[in-house]
Amino acid sequence: MKLYIETVGCQMNELDSELVVASLRKDGYELTSNVQEADTILFNTCSVRQHAEDKIYSALGRLKNAKQKHPDKVIGVLGCMAQKDQGSIFKRAPYVDLIVGPGQLHQVPDLVRDIRSQGLLRTQRMEISLGRKEGSREQIERSHESFDPLRDPAMRPTPYQAYVRIMIGCDKFCTYCIVPSVRGPEQSRPPGAILAEARQLASEGCQEITLLGQTVNSYKYAEGERTWRLSDLLAALHEIESLKRIKFVTNYPKDMTDDLLAAVRDLPKVSKYLHVPVQSGSNDILTRMKRGYNVEEYRDMLARIREWIPGVAVTSDFIVGFCGETDEDFQKTMDLVAESRFKNSFIFKYSERPGTKGADLYADDVPDEIKRQRNNDLLALQNEISEADNQAFLGQEVTVLVEGPSKTAERHGENGNAGEQVQLTGRTPCDRIVVFDGNRRQIGNFLPITIYDANAHTLFGEVVTRHVGPEVFELSLPMPAR
Ligand code: SAH
Ligand code: SF4
Ligand code: F3S
Repeated sequence: MKLYIETVGCQMNELDSELVVASLRKDGYELTSNVQEADTILFNTCSVRQHAEDKIYSALGRLKNAKQKHPDKVIGVLGCMAQKDQGSIFKRAPYVDLIVGPGQLHQVPDLVRDIRSQGLLRTQRMEISLGRKEGSREQIERSHESFDPLRDPAMRPTPYQAYVRIMIGCDKFCTYCIVPSVRGPEQSRPPGAILAEARQLASEGCQEITLLGQTVNSYKYAEGERTWRLSDLLAALHEIESLKRIKFVTNYPKDMTDDLLAAVRDLPKVSKYLHVPVQSGSNDILTRMKRGYNVEEYRDMLARIREWIPGVAVTSDFIVGFCGETDEDFQKTMDLVAESRFKNSFIFKYSERPGTKGADLYADDVPDEIKRQRNNDLLALQNEISEADNQAFLGQEVTVLVEGPSKTAERHGENGNAGEQVQLTGRTPCDRIVVFDGNRRQIGNFLPITIYDANAHTLFGEVVTRHVGPEVFELSLPMPAR
């Protein structure tokens, strides 16, 4: 049986899809990238912006004919939009068989099997979690289950890297954001389960793990007398010998505590890279967003990060055109970007989400044209800064973990044999992308690279070949092309 899956949204969704695919493989499914030949078609969806939803509804629309011709195909909508839109998805696309929220993904294999076994007389199925006001805190928490089955090494996009979930949900309720209602209450996973998963991954050859949480640095788990924080978790993960690099996303500015900064500074395996979204440079807007800090506090936090962790790279997210954002508000965001020198920023146009406080309280009153202009202006400024910062690496030597063929090499289908020359990509400890020529045998290794060119997004370099000791020599010498 063939499975086609399309995933949109954040890393949490990428991880969920990996795990859903692994669980269906146990039932005899294999993946296909051709939707036509699939027996089961799944969409793992996102609701964070309207655009992400539109994309899925139009993909569903395109399946209408296919389903008429092949009524036995199972079509399922999983993830955040399934939780948000629930049964109304059946109304918009009556040929959908299955709706499963992010807190119920463990049920997918059983549901798909049930539907298949009913043949063409099937009934539509929907499994979702409780809404944020549909029960006691405990009931709601229980209805959002973390989906973390045993990992299947064959399902990871690369054998050397993996995501590890450390918490689910969010309790911050920023007024623009749908995540707390679709992903449910903030719940941290027990440290024992996280460490066991990381050890298993490491024993299978995984070099780098990225810890995931909507507000990953709010991690807290009480165990007897002891309360585990993210910094404790990092220290424990650091002990896993064959694990070489640890990252974590996304950080909430208010929870950027000194113990965490000390852990990032003192633990060599932890990437000197922090994604700490500020969202806006205007206090009026931050208040309306209910982010819980003002620009002065964010600025102090940034100064603290840079003081504690030399060479650290900080990145941010921004929303432009939030309700009531004036030219002056936007100028303050530009000023903050100019002074903060983020490694890069993800910039989004505000998209009103029904059911959020923002949609209830404020009018979405910034015209789209202005949102677009502000998006472009902010991006241009950030790109200038990113490029200048990357230029500072010219002539320097960095250590990268080699991730795989570069996008260009993949586009050209240059997958090559182990010894063949191919353009590779990897990341520095501060999460900068480096592109260089090497061979596939080097994937998964750490290599010294000298940088000779840089643009806003990428450093370009050459593998350093140094005649010091057999190990480095072997690792860094590119094999001659055959
Ligand atoms: N938990 C993370 C990420 C949340 S979603 C955090 O707190 O940072 C990722 C980004 O999408 C957010 O940082 C925000 O910049 C953006 N975003 C969230 N809701 C949005 C909306 N309604 N419109 C536009 N952008 C939004
Ligand atoms: Fe959304 Fe705010 Fe939670 Fe991030 S912290 S997921 S932006 S509510
Ligand atoms: Fe989207 Fe859900 Fe992630 S709304 S950003 S996929 S948590």
